[in-house]
This record gives sequence, structure tokens and C-alpha cells, in this order.
Amino acid sequence: MNISWKSKIALLLLVPLLTYQCSDKGSPVQNGTDTELVSYSMEVQPIFDVNCIFCHGPEFSNAVLLLNTYDHIMAGTSDNGPVVIPGNSTGSLIVQKLQGIASVGSPLMPPDGPVLSLEEIQTIIQWIDEGAMNTE
Ligand code: HEC
Repeated sequence: MNISWKSKIALLLLVPLLTYQCSDKGSPVQNGTDTELVSYSMEVQPIFDVNCIFCHGPEFSNAVLLLNTYDHIMAGTSDNGPVVIPGNSTGSLIVQKLQGIASVGSPLMPPDGPVLSLEEIQTIIQWIDEGAMNTE
């Protein structure tokens, strides 16, 4: 049988493509829906910097809770302890505040709104459930 040069070129292109797709199936999946872990420094801290820092930053002298660095966020406050419980977003005070269901202090953060978008809240929830690590 005589294979035309066009078919040969098609095969040459097809074989690496199929090999690549098959080998890709073995890539690790960290959770059911999303293969990317949330980045603390790229995705989480910027949310606090934009929405929270003017009340929860070092410039604000009576800030009970500092949200300007990872260590401060994880330290929580002497009043209510940690606000982030790694692996437990529903038990984390910071998530309860973002959802307006906190039972201590003002139930909603920011207290006078505007509430964060569902997407921003979901990013923080996912970060906490992934272990609330100081990821790049
Ligand atoms: C307008 C000022 C203001 C803004 C903006 C603000 N907060 Fe607050 N926040 C406060 C004050 C005042 C308290 C202490 C009283 C209270 O808990 O209601 C507080 C308390 C908290 C607490 C509870 C700390 C504890 O241990 O009791 C959390 C968690 C919190 N804020 C998270 C946030 C987050 C996250 C944002 C941004 C999305 C935010 N806040 C934005 C003023 C603010």
C-alpha cells in the first residue's frame, strides 16, 4: 500500500499530539474541581489590602486584628483567638464575618459594607480549606 506524503505528515503531527495527551492524564489533581492551589500572596492578601487594611492595618492605632501580614492574620486576637482555622473555613471567624453570620462583635465585615464578592469570599474559603498556608 502506498501512503501519500500528506498522510505521512498528518501521522507525524498526530503521534506526538496523542502521546502528549495520554501522558497528561497522569497529572496530579489536588481537589475535585480545581487543580491550582490558591496563592496566599497573589490572591488572598490583596483582598485584605484593598478591603480591610484601612481599619486592620498598623496605621490604625486601635486595630484589634492586623490583616497586613500572614503572621498577623494567623495570630488572631487576644479577644477571640485565631480568626483562621486551617482546614476549617466554616469554623473560622474571618469567614463568618465575611458572610455576615459572626456571633461576636459586628456580624459583618467590612461593618459598613460593601460586602466582598462571592468570588473573593470563595477564594478565602478555599485557601483556608487547603490548609491556610503562606503560599507564594
Ligand atoms: C471600617 C473599619 C473596618 C473595616 C473596613 C473592616 N473591619 Fe474588621 N473590624 C473592625 C472593628 C472595629 C472590629 C472589632 C469589633 C468587631 O468585631 O465588630 C473588627 C473585627 C474584625 C474581626 C474579628 C476580630 C476578633 O477577634 O474579634 C474580623 C475577623 C474582621 N474584623 C475581619 C475583617 C475583614 C476580613 C475585613 C475586610 C473584608 C474587615 N474586617 C474590614 C473594623 C473594620
